[in-house]
Amino acid sequence: MLFWRVKPLDLILATAEKKALHRSLDAWQLTLLGVGAIIGTGIFVLTAEAAQKAGPGMMLSFVIAGFVCAVAALCYSELASMVPVSGSAYTYSYAVLGEGVAWLVGWALILEYAVAASAVAVGWSGYFVGLMQHSLGLTIPATLANGPYAGGTVNLPAVFICLIVTALLVIGTRESATFNAILVTVKVVALTAFAALALPAVNGENFHPFTPLGGSGVVAASASIFFAYVGFDAVSTAAEETKNPQRNVPIGLIGSLGICTLFYLLVSAGAIGAVGAQPVLDPAGRGLPPGSVALAEQCRSLAALGQEPLVCSREALAQVLRQIGWTKIGNLIGLAAFLALPSVILMMLFGQTRIFFVMARDGLLPEALSRIHPRFKTPHVVTLVTGFAVTLAAAFFPVGKLADISNSGTLFAFLVVALAVMILRVKDKHRARPFKTPAVWIVAPLAVAGCLGLFLFLPPHAKLVFPVWGTIGLICYFLYGYRKSHMALGIPTPSGGEDIISEVRPLTELGENDLGPGTRD
Ligand code: ALA
Repeated sequence: MLFWRVKPLDLILATAEKKALHRSLDAWQLTLLGVGAIIGTGIFVLTAEAAQKAGPGMMLSFVIAGFVCAVAALCYSELASMVPVSGSAYTYSYAVLGEGVAWLVGWALILEYAVAASAVAVGWSGYFVGLMQHSLGLTIPATLANGPYAGGTVNLPAVFICLIVTALLVIGTRESATFNAILVTVKVVALTAFAALALPAVNGENFHPFTPLGGSGVVAASASIFFAYVGFDAVSTAAEETKNPQRNVPIGLIGSLGICTLFYLLVSAGAIGAVGAQPVLDPAGRGLPPGSVALAEQCRSLAALGQEPLVCSREALAQVLRQIGWTKIGNLIGLAAFLALPSVILMMLFGQTRIFFVMARDGLLPEALSRIHPRFKTPHVVTLVTGFAVTLAAAFFPVGKLADISNSGTLFAFLVVALAVMILRVKDKHRARPFKTPAVWIVAPLAVAGCLGLFLFLPPHAKLVFPVWGTIGLICYFLYGYRKSHMALGIPTPSGGEDIISEVRPLTELGENDLGPGTRD
């Protein structure tokens, strides 16, 4: 029943009227693009949460999540190179599985992008609070720097950064390519410095027990730490501007995922080995859930005794260095996170507005959402609505819970993409594929199984949010989109839509004062 109103691929391509982009990216540039888009809150903040679920075994969790992302990324790239238009997984699903599934995917992408933006804002807040305290001696009261989950009232720093980023997007500020490159360097230097200082301080005993909460803890941590890899779709969607995509896209994807996995392994090994990463347990010996009131209380009791376990930290990497005597460098790592994480929020929010925009252009969401500001030339209505929702979530929820919810949406979208690649290989054998997923009948089923497996190991709240969110989405669809769909009404896509989308030019075309942080949904 869901497979109706399949939008012909040729129509999508014709509607988009994409100009052929100059193929200029080589494998190395593509790899750097990926590394820049991937590194963020996952490694800087969620390392503590992964340790709470897996203990030192979180190193394996990074490998498992990286592998699932690699196979999903290879599928993503095939569709991205065949259908190089805005809308990402939403558009691919419209072309292969029809409007119902496309709507669900678009709805899931809201979780991916908007909730991820909230998660990164909460992660940033932890570093902001630490930086204020350790560098300027300013203590922000805990009640104003945490949501109710950690005994606070509202996370004001997270609110502040969300509002700033929303305002920047409304007035059309985005990063220049140079600024983006500087931030990538800041992140990479910070992680390298961390590994260089923490690894020599490794004490082998800190790796025992390696999997205190068993194999299921390791897989559960993979499902959460999956967040650390999100963003690689920047590489897939750059396929159309890549020289020799058949060769360079997989190098860029696997290269950036491989480099990030290596960084993540070195950083996690350094953190585990230098200060230990054993989970905080309840009296029955079970790991307390990250982001829970119980864990926050237990952490406060430990802090009163002068103990600061890694799993309790909101600025994990900075804290590790301070604990092993590198206070100043620890503060600098905090500064690096403080500077670099807002760009991830910007990318996520920007990606979200583009998804909404494409859906509104297809008639599935009210056209008011795609209204363009007369002066700033930005889709200000959708940006403000999204920014407000992202701010609310960041004000009251913990980073790990938000990341898990975001992962549930992302895993669903990746799963549909892997299915779509296989279906299209059968249905539309002869269409040109600038990039073909290698060993597709092994890689795509592995991607489906990996996404499904990680989804099943997400915490209950994230697994529950997804079907509830999906049901609300379907109700909205049948009340609105089903009747107003331009596809159903035979209305050609309104002109003007692509104009705004195409204002966001590829990274390769960006100049100093140009728009576009690189979120190329
Ligand atoms: N991978 C991105 C991060 O970790 C979303 O912040």
